[in-house]
Amino acid sequence: MPSVSSRPLAIVTGASSGIGLAIAQHLATLGYNLALCARRQDRLDVLAAELEGQGCNVLTQAVDLRDEAQILSFFAAIDQRFNRVDVLINSAGLGHKEPLMTGATEAWREMLDVNVLALCICTREAIARMKTQDNPQGKGHIIHLSSMSGHRIPTAVAGLYSATKFAVRSLTETLRRELRQADSSIRISSISPGIVETEFAEKYSKSADEAAATYSRHPMLQAEDIAKAVTYLLKQPDHVEVHDILLRPTQQQS
Ligand SMILES: NC(=O)c1ccc[n+]([C@@H]2O[C@H](COP(=O)([O-])OP(=O)(O)OC[C@H]3O[C@@H](n4cnc5c(N)ncnc54)[C@H](OP(=O)(O)O)[C@@H]3O)[C@@H](O)[C@H]2O)c1
Repeated sequence: MPSVSSRPLAIVTGASSGIGLAIAQHLATLGYNLALCARRQDRLDVLAAELEGQGCNVLTQAVDLRDEAQILSFFAAIDQRFNRVDVLINSAGLGHKEPLMTGATEAWREMLDVNVLALCICTREAIARMKTQDNPQGKGHIIHLSSMSGHRIPTAVAGLYSATKFAVRSLTETLRRELRQADSSIRISSISPGIVETEFAEKYSKSADEAAATYSRHPMLQAEDIAKAVTYLLKQPDHVEVHDILLRPTQQQS
């Protein structure tokens, strides 16, 4: 493993819980230094202490991804501390059960701001830093957390959430086309999970009981399963770009 100061740097958004947290833990074992953001700084502090105990250099910053200024300040802190970006994992995201016929505009706006716009801003900022003197066209890997809800409409209450993940699927291919046109070596991949047992369902339905009922139907994917998919993507040789990984709990119907 390279010395701490020469390790590659991976950014993980939404590292305070669920999939982002598990990915950060896996990346630390793979020898990355980490820049982690989410709104809940207390959660990031606990995670950073755990990972620093394993010899990883960790920057954490409380960022509300709905606010571009906060995102840019996070990237400025990354420049100051690491002055490199090798991997970006866009994991932050959320759903609200707010149907198209009756839903609240603010809830729709939050999903669009975090799931779509912040993902684009973070991607743009990361790519600018993946271009170096040695690699003027850029080298690195961007991974978007998409969803099976970006491949089909799962239920009648998919509302705007599913549309944001269809957008992520479209953004994955559009960025791939831009990168190839620019003759860049940066790779872009998505991961599209079915149901993963995290804090997502409780936030989505605003009900701990409903979330518990959802997750007790059958064995669900765990955040760890998604972190392993990230490892698979990153471990591919430079000439292999995996486009999307679709995975569901074996017993999931939709
Ligand atoms: N769980 C599933 O069934 C499932 C399935 C398919 C895809 N996904 C996708 O996987 C990704 C991760 O979700 P998860 O299951 O791990 O859910 P989670 O446990 O609720 O984690 C969501 C993360 O996003 C962060 N986040 C949300 N809003 C934010 C904001 N405004 N600013 C900064 N950070 C924000 C949260 O941090 P703070 O609250 O601390 O800000 C948290 O770290 C999402 O993109 C989700 O759409 C999930």
